[in-house]
Amino acid sequence: MHPHPTFSVPSTASDWWRDAVFYQIYIRSFADGNGDGVGDLAGIRSRLPYLAELGVDALWITPFYPSPMADHGYDVADPRDVEPVFGDLAEFDALLAEAHERGLRVTVDLVPNHSSHQHAWFQEALAAEPGSPARARYLFRDGRGPDGSEPPNNWPSVFGGPAWTRVSDGQWYLHIFAPEQPDLNFADPEVVADLEKTMRFWLDRGVDGFRIDVAHGMAKPDGLPDMVPMEDTGLLDDHGPGDLRFDQDGVHEVHRRIRAVIDEYPGRMAVGEVWVSDDKRLARYLREDELQLAFNFKLLTAEWTTDDLRDAVTHSLDAVAGTSAPACWVLSNHDRPRHVTRYGGGELGTRRAKAAALLQLALPGAAYLYNGDELGMPDVLLPDEALQDPVWERSGHTERGRDACRVPMPWSGTEASYGFSSHRETWLPMPDGWAPLTAEAQAADPASIQSLYRRALALRASSPAFSGTSLAWLPAPEGCLAFRRPGGLVCLLNLSGHAVPLPEGSVLLASADVGDGSLPDDTAVWLQA
Ligand code: NOJ
Repeated sequence: MHPHPTFSVPSTASDWWRDAVFYQIYIRSFADGNGDGVGDLAGIRSRLPYLAELGVDALWITPFYPSPMADHGYDVADPRDVEPVFGDLAEFDALLAEAHERGLRVTVDLVPNHSSHQHAWFQEALAAEPGSPARARYLFRDGRGPDGSEPPNNWPSVFGGPAWTRVSDGQWYLHIFAPEQPDLNFADPEVVADLEKTMRFWLDRGVDGFRIDVAHGMAKPDGLPDMVPMEDTGLLDDHGPGDLRFDQDGVHEVHRRIRAVIDEYPGRMAVGEVWVSDDKRLARYLREDELQLAFNFKLLTAEWTTDDLRDAVTHSLDAVAGTSAPACWVLSNHDRPRHVTRYGGGELGTRRAKAAALLQLALPGAAYLYNGDELGMPDVLLPDEALQDPVWERSGHTERGRDACRVPMPWSGTEASYGFSSHRETWLPMPDGWAPLTAEAQAADPASIQSLYRRALALRASSPAFSGTSLAWLPAPEGCLAFRRPGGLVCLLNLSGHAVPLPEGSVLLASADVGDGSLPDDTAVWLQA
């Protein structure tokens, strides 16, 4: 049935996720199987050989559930079905089976904090009376002021504007994100029971785990009091304990319920999108009966300086130190500028991104790659009229939003849509000049970032140098970072502005030529010492 008979055997360890490399597929932008300019499940299936050869262990597929797409799938109208734009359940089952045959695990997004306004429950709530059980599944409240025309509290939405929208009978409902994403009420047992039902639905089909959206949301403080006024809510940032929308103690009860379901299915896992920067508060999500992994976003927010990068590593390791969880490293995702661009763009950005790849993949724990990281994809400056992120409209066209990091992946050929789709037009336009960036062009170039990723992933999977879960910092020249793993891997990263001598040991891999015995600026090397 499959053209390539040499499948790698998936690890049978039940804690396979501890050092796995996950590949995030932003479904709209990965591969289009049906020629409508939007990525889909069939497109993913057609690219499984590429992913297996690249050497990742597992996939995270962003939401593909029925959705009016107010937030491109993070507004879920039915969490137990497939959006027709992306395929159907049979296509999902086929993708899952084939991924498993190829040794790739598959995890999917779980979006508990909110539903779409088109979800049957929300439609029912709108039609129901204030105070009814249908409204109790969400957070409906009366407004303030003599005629209730002021929102119930001063919370801002993450996407700009107030976090409340008024309905025709005068009540307001809470939406931490877009108005099309009403927050669910986790104090209502039916809401928790429905989440468990959704989890079992996908676990029974065979998924290997979940990425939990806004995993620090869900619980809201009693009485929904005002919070410290916050003009700029900063997209998915952590504002600390004053931000009453997130990281409330009650959220841990929800995580315990989630974990109880996961534990019914040996070998399955959950990673949380927890935007909590305090190490101790983050660690609370990783207690024995809560999440197995939480994204460490500190690498994603670090500047390209030794201080920032060292801090990011140290804090991420400190956060998990008192828990049984490994760290979980992220350089880019679909919500933030891509790291090639953050690091300066162009050749410089790519050079640094290559070095960053060796840093990320040398660290102990799990790692998440975002589709296109392996091609060194940069952000794209899109024309105003192409922008689709709700942030653009809700900010009154002052924030461009996240579309720049969501442009479809270039696979082959010399012009748009570069093998992404059989259609020239894609849901976000692809720029001219991407021929050298395509997966096909890079596969043929041993010096490409894609070739570096392939070699790095192969080494990480096979070399005993990567064994052990700890990291020891080593003395390093000024402007450099160096650390050692118990198995003997040494990683040296040079940001000093000039070349430095290579340390002792045999070179396993370097992000640029080290043939003259020195490590150039903005370069990393792996050595076996
Ligand atoms: C986090 C997701 O990564 C982001 O894309 C989405 O907009 C919000 N959660 C709301 O679901």
